[in-house]
Amino acid sequence: APRRASAYAPSNIALSKYWGKRDQARNLPLNSSLSISLAEWGSHTEIVPAEDGADRVWLNGAALDAETPFAAKALRFADLFRAGRDAPLHIRTRNTIPTAAGLASSASGFAALTRALVSAFGLELSERDMSLIARLGSGSAARSLWHGFVRWDRGTAPDGGDSLAAPLDVHWPAFRIAIVAVDTGPKSMTSRDGMNHTVATSPLFATWPQTAEADCAAIETAVRAQDLPKLGALAEANALAMHATMLAARPALSYLKPESWAVLERLWRARAEGLQAFATMDAGANVKLIFEQTDSADVLAAFPQAEIIAPFSVQN
Ligand code: DP6
Repeated sequence: APRRASAYAPSNIALSKYWGKRDQARNLPLNSSLSISLAEWGSHTEIVPAEDGADRVWLNGAALDAETPFAAKALRFADLFRAGRDAPLHIRTRNTIPTAAGLASSASGFAALTRALVSAFGLELSERDMSLIARLGSGSAARSLWHGFVRWDRGTAPDGGDSLAAPLDVHWPAFRIAIVAVDTGPKSMTSRDGMNHTVATSPLFATWPQTAEADCAAIETAVRAQDLPKLGALAEANALAMHATMLAARPALSYLKPESWAVLERLWRARAEGLQAFATMDAGANVKLIFEQTDSADVLAAFPQAEIIAPFSVQN
């Protein structure tokens, strides 16, 4: 029988994006990706064997209806561990990510849920195996098992047995990431639906997997060299190329809003005047900036609403 267990996992931002699946059920990507974890911005998950005999899910203290997408997905994920056994569970997840940051928390949510379930069921699993399992919950969760820089190799095995992430042995204390929150407006399409629509309809998608794979390799080299200008230029180009594939989808898909473009314009102007900061954007309107600690004051001067995160402030 499962026992009480809890775990934490950080959220992450891809510097080289995962966009497009080769297998829907297993979340197998068409290309490799590389991320930076967000230290104490993440998810705490607690698993408690249910004494009342019923599965229940809480998110940030609020009980969820079993039919809400998050609860349904979390319980279906727990079924992988229950393997047909009768083991009702209470799952409590608390996100430490400020709501205003508008970041999706499925990456940290499924990574923390994986760790908590592994320990609740007393399984002896390697970190490698945990990454494989977390991937089944959400692709980007495969990267959220570690702090620091993490690379998810796309793998080639049809069953996904080699599609998993691993941390990079890079310690870069001066590295910073900032979230520039933008008015997000009505809820946008999920990443899953957005990437599937892009793969199915965008004529620009044909070149994406190859471009993304080359970007991922070059970005890994820049991370290992701790070369911020090179890393920043590559990450920004990779993010814009991903958004270009969506703009060419039919109908077009645009997560970026006028305010996102205003942030980019201001960034490009500041960069022309010497600021060493670069942007990346995901399935939402917010812009994330990457830079080094020496540029923190200038980033805040240009973007007073920026929330700065020091990814290496936590113990790896
Ligand atoms: C734009 O991991 O949320 O953030 O595998 O369908 O759960 P699913 O998708 P998800 O997609 C993340 C897309 C992205 C880029 C990235 O994080 O690499």
